[in-house]
Amino acid sequence: MTRVGLGNLALKILHVVGARPNFIKVAPVCRALSENSVVEQAILHTGQHYDVNMSDVFFEQLGIGTPRFNLGVGSGSHAQQTAEIIKRFEPIVIAERPDWVLVYGDVNSTVAAALVCSKIGIKLAHVEAGLRSFDRTMPEEINRVLTDHLADLLFTPSEDGNRNLAREGIAPERVHLVGNVMIDTLIRMLPHAASAVPADIPESFILVTLHRPSNVDDVDWLADMLRTLLTLSQKLPIVFPIHPRTRERMRAAGLGVAEGRIRFMDPIPYLSFLGLQQRAKLVITDSGGIQEETTFLQVPCLTVRENTERPITVSMGTNQLVGRDVGKVATAVTKLLSGTLKRRRIPPLWDGHAAERIAAVLTREDVSKRVVSIPQCQTSLR
Ligand code: UD1
Repeated sequence: MTRVGLGNLALKILHVVGARPNFIKVAPVCRALSENSVVEQAILHTGQHYDVNMSDVFFEQLGIGTPRFNLGVGSGSHAQQTAEIIKRFEPIVIAERPDWVLVYGDVNSTVAAALVCSKIGIKLAHVEAGLRSFDRTMPEEINRVLTDHLADLLFTPSEDGNRNLAREGIAPERVHLVGNVMIDTLIRMLPHAASAVPADIPESFILVTLHRPSNVDDVDWLADMLRTLLTLSQKLPIVFPIHPRTRERMRAAGLGVAEGRIRFMDPIPYLSFLGLQQRAKLVITDSGGIQEETTFLQVPCLTVRENTERPITVSMGTNQLVGRDVGKVATAVTKLLSGTLKRRRIPPLWDGHAAERIAAVLTREDVSKRVVSIPQCQTSLR
């Protein structure tokens, strides 16, 4: 890391990201921290997502440049992927000795970096802490629980996160309710989204994304879902950008050749997807972040899962859990298309300033400590 700002008093921060949603979350935090002259920061990409459309275009569009480090781990089983990140991350973090490592969300890269930092005594902050689906069959739930219990500072997007952490015995002084950094990015990028929608997309459509192993690895379910989508597409065209995992499952099962009014497409860049969400009549998804984005955009969202770690999108926002029951999806779509939509609320602190709150906490914490312990700091800075 090139030191900027106040010489040995610089606060060194290393952001670790690996998958699509992480890139959207790190951008505003980097931006907010860059306003502070004591901060010196770098991004490390684990390489969990590596396709151009799943990775590079996000860095480009979000204006965060090429990551300083790339571990290039690629795909594998959970154990392989996590282990590879641990092995490759450790020497870098030891060499760099950042004051803080920031991890984001709930992906394998998040927990892998958290484990490394906690074992070698590097302070760890978790952005998007406290979310719980209470479903331990979800790999992301394991990642969330472990990361939260290893973190020194925890930044929550909503109050339910604080309650979950308190219930698990995490000291309240480590927890800061800051709001939603994903919404920070959305608010900044929204003015550019409509013009990024591909020209041949219909004026009105249903937007679909499915990628969770618990859904798409079940080929019978996937076939059933695709048949239902085909029927629904008679009411309204469907636009379906396909995650590589889903594409692979569909290919293996001989499913999903372009049919009816379903438009399949490769994963698309952030801005185009945001524009699609904004224009969609409704969204069907099993993603986490899309539940939040649709809540902010006031677009109805049907989440094809039995639970959500983001309950505020249901209690306050436009999200509705329909479970894995394909029949319920069809009924809910029909109801939504024929009814009038209730206006819903945007959760508190989803206001575009969450990252600034994070930056304020980090710089306050460290700058004050640093001033009283300069010799120790100097040994940890290169
Ligand atoms: C990961 C996260 C999930 C998040 C999602 C966002 C975990 C446990 N899961 O799931 O929480 O919602 O990212 O997209 O970390 N692949 C490619 N190219 C890529 C990336 C992946 O072809 O650039 C394929 C590979 O075949 C890989 C599969 O997609 O095996 C799954 O990728 P992986 O990173 O393991 O998990 P995701 O399903 O993307």
